[in-house]
Amino acid sequence: MNDPSTSSGSPRAQSRGDRLVAAARVDDDAQYEAGLRPRFLAEYIGQDRLRDNLAVSIEAARGRAEALDHVLLYGPPGLGKTTLAYVIGNEMGVPVRATAGPVIEKPGDLAAMLTNLQQHEVLFIDEIHRMAPAIEEILYPAMEDYELDIVIGQGPSARSVKVPLQKFTLIGATTRAGLLTAPLRARFGIVHRLDFYADGDIEEIVRRSARILDVVVDPDAATEIARRSRGTPRIANRLLRRVRDYAQVRADGRITAEVARAALALLEVDDHGFDEVDRKLLRTIIEKFSGGPVGVNSLAAAINEEKDAIEDIYEPFLIQAGFLDRTPRGRVATPRAYRYFGLTVPRRDSSLW
Ligand code: ADE
Repeated sequence: MNDPSTSSGSPRAQSRGDRLVAAARVDDDAQYEAGLRPRFLAEYIGQDRLRDNLAVSIEAARGRAEALDHVLLYGPPGLGKTTLAYVIGNEMGVPVRATAGPVIEKPGDLAAMLTNLQQHEVLFIDEIHRMAPAIEEILYPAMEDYELDIVIGQGPSARSVKVPLQKFTLIGATTRAGLLTAPLRARFGIVHRLDFYADGDIEEIVRRSARILDVVVDPDAATEIARRSRGTPRIANRLLRRVRDYAQVRADGRITAEVARAALALLEVDDHGFDEVDRKLLRTIIEKFSGGPVGVNSLAAAINEEKDAIEDIYEPFLIQAGFLDRTPRGRVATPRAYRYFGLTVPRRDSSLW
């Protein structure tokens, strides 16, 4: 599939494509992901609560021979929102038609997609928070009553015509549920957040992917790769491919712990899966802003990154890993961040930690 969500207009965002531990999809991921993605819930590792809930909803909809309720999936990039959309399609036994918020330019584009949907089919809209308001409005009656409201003519002679649609399922994905408008959000019957995966789940994903790629990975090597993958399957699979290259060229093809460590050291992915941007972000808070609190706009300007990138990509992982805190007054570097750089943890007002 030609994946529209890989496109990005900003030069900074493009330079982030070089980042080995970037959670956003980069160019050569798509072709590999297609082969590594689980196709059914039974193959899907991790996100247990979400998986169990979806299994119930899907079985119930199938039992009643109805379309599945509309599904909203939200959470940081790389955790499997697109994968789940296709898993849902497969489990429901229907095709998935995919698009993305920013690529729908005209209301007619969306109307055409909606009218082409067959009964119970899935329309997947990635980055649904980036849809233009005039386009979003088309979705309201489509989702609620399975019909399109089309206005014909202009001025006093204008009239509205209702076009019936097949009963379909909309699956929306977003990194930021908070950016969705209330009327759109309210029309999703099933809303789930994807969390970062536990290290054990990522290890299992690495072992599964290694089997598919036909490469031997020792258990402690899988642990090593998992630990540096920021709880993100897309990163784990990317690191696995790079480590596989190293094993092939510098060893006998087998990924032992030693081979994994040497390969990851060469790739400059550190023990926590941090890269330059993570380190710069934390160091800047500590050195320029005395550990914080600092507002996200000031931080973005200081490290020359976009505010959205900080909020969507970098900070969710740093927060969950315990290196950064989000307080009402701004971002704060935690004692763990100081220790990471070998710095003494300053004494400060305990309400800030
Ligand atoms: N590959 C990528 N994500 C996966 C997941 N959640 N389960 C199994 N394999 C995966």
